[in-house]
Amino acid sequence: MRKAVLVLAVGVSACAPGQSDRGNPARGEQRFGEIGCNGCHTVAGVGGMVGPDLTRVASVPLREQGRWSSPRAYLEESIRAPQAYLVPGYPGDMPSAAQLGLSDPDIGDLVAYLLTLR
Ligand code: HEC
Repeated sequence: MRKAVLVLAVGVSACAPGQSDRGNPARGEQRFGEIGCNGCHTVAGVGGMVGPDLTRVASVPLREQGRWSSPRAYLEESIRAPQAYLVPGYPGDMPSAAQLGLSDPDIGDLVAYLLTLR
């Protein structure tokens, strides 16, 4: 009985509407820790301080309106090509997706996770 409840909870978080086709935010959160993104970035008070706090990063593109087609596009660029746009006041030392060896599914899942941070 307890097992059935657990499976249901995992199923719900992995299949939130509109997200299953564009990346899995739960897996993205897991990969964020495994890859070590949190060594440089804080989310909700936990993590490093080398890069910007990402607690509300999905809201950031709003202050850069017009530069990217969507928050998704901005976040994907931030991971694939961090040097393309540097957040003011920060060094350009974030490793690119290629340097980190990230796959396309990894990037999709990370973006899906970051889009939940508002
Ligand atoms: C070695 C430290 C370091 C690591 C590791 C790192 N970052 Fe960064 N990150 C930075 C720095 C510094 C910036 C600010 C400069 C820039 O815009 O590239 C940044 C910027 C960002 C931004 C833009 C933030 C904003 O406020 O607009 C996002 C999103 C981001 N990183 C996501 C990630 C993800 C996801 C990972 C793991 C795949 C990661 N970072 C790994 C240092 C790091």
